[in-house]
Amino acid sequence: MTESPHSGLARTAPSRRTLLKAGLIGGTGVVAGPMLWTQAARSAAPATGVHLSYGSDPVSRMNVSWSTAGSVQAPRLDLGLTPDYGLTLRPESVSSRRVDSVYHHVDLSDLRSGTRYYYRLSHDGGPATRGSFTTAPPSEEPFRFAAFGDMGVAEDAARNVNLIRREGAEFAFVVGDIAYADDGGMGTSRESQQDFGLWDEFLTQIQPSSAAIPWMTTVGNHEMENGNGELGYDGYRARFRHPDNGASGGQETYSFVRGNVAFIALDGNDATYEYTRNKGYLGAAGDSWLELQLIAFRARADIDFILVGFHQCAYCTNVAHASDGGIRDRWEALFDRYQVDVVINGHNHCYERTHLMRAGKPVQQAPRGSTVSTDEGTIYITAGGGGASAYPDILPKLSYYTDEHGLKIPEVTDYRAVGDATHSVAFFDAHPRDAEGRARLDLEVIASDGSKVDTLTIVRTR
Ligand SMILES: [Fe+2]
Ligand SMILES: [Fe+2]
Repeated sequence: MTESPHSGLARTAPSRRTLLKAGLIGGTGVVAGPMLWTQAARSAAPATGVHLSYGSDPVSRMNVSWSTAGSVQAPRLDLGLTPDYGLTLRPESVSSRRVDSVYHHVDLSDLRSGTRYYYRLSHDGGPATRGSFTTAPPSEEPFRFAAFGDMGVAEDAARNVNLIRREGAEFAFVVGDIAYADDGGMGTSRESQQDFGLWDEFLTQIQPSSAAIPWMTTVGNHEMENGNGELGYDGYRARFRHPDNGASGGQETYSFVRGNVAFIALDGNDATYEYTRNKGYLGAAGDSWLELQLIAFRARADIDFILVGFHQCAYCTNVAHASDGGIRDRWEALFDRYQVDVVINGHNHCYERTHLMRAGKPVQQAPRGSTVSTDEGTIYITAGGGGASAYPDILPKLSYYTDEHGLKIPEVTDYRAVGDATHSVAFFDAHPRDAEGRARLDLEVIASDGSKVDTLTIVRTR
């Protein structure tokens, strides 16, 4: 049943490993799994909710995911270096709780770096959905990426999707609270608080961006869907694919390197003192994995910046959730020891940024518009303005952190550099080292109405 390979694809056709992973049509069929959807039917509805994500190596691997309104016959992805395609791959297809939608995933590997690939998604009896993506180049070239959390399905969320397109981000790093299909968010919701149809609305909302660039997601408290698997993550896992290099026992942690920046995704639900349903499920094993990642990345001469993303805030003054002592107790010492440059959080629906931090204290001022060196300290950013209803930004003299007993302990807010209550997206431009040996990460935070919220130039010399 495989279509004839296009001659132009011959040298770069995915290898046997790729074909086996994806389940090549004419091969062994759909990859087996506990959530395998086997019932087949004809459907005239097109593929929707198309979203991409990098594999562990953005240079050579890409996941293509999409959904159909129900089960379909012979779902497939055609891939090629031109819109003539040439290679047909069969997805892994999975169902999910209390929705008719079926989610399809193809894990592409052995792709050519810095190369545009065209894809077509289809099934028997349905129209095709077409798109293309470009793999990351291997060399250090400047590139732009977007970071934010707490998007949901909303008018400003859709505006932010357009903003990400307009700004030319090469990928998005999404730090949890994605679709809010679980409205309670504490991991204890009743079924009446859960609307899993919101996942499909969300995926449709982001498709104008996510069908062309990877959206790298992490879980927030609203991804703990009570009744949906032991951790509540089965709904999330059915819909997203991630690099397969995370902490053992967890699919929610992973890392990847793009250019001179290393990205580490953590699960804040594992460390938080606030909503503790999943606290400690990775525990020491997760922290060992994190430390090994940090050691490996700091040992590499081609990596200048380390950016860690997860949901709950290490430092945020916003009184809605403020700061989380669990995050500080578990990870802050590691961030200090290995000089993590930037930590991106969400959870508080606002934008906020700290000065340079070491050992729990601001060690150098970093006002809006300044140039600072993260050789000296870590910048903590709350980028929770993705689109879900914004929290007012009231700068109190005292904010608080949640301690191990769930108590709110007052503390001064001298760590705060910038705060803003509008919906926004944080954009970063990563630049390789210049002639003086300075690598640069330019932060530009843009509100969904286009206005500028924050800028900061982050340099690294060591
Ligand atoms: Fe949120
Ligand atoms: Fe949250």
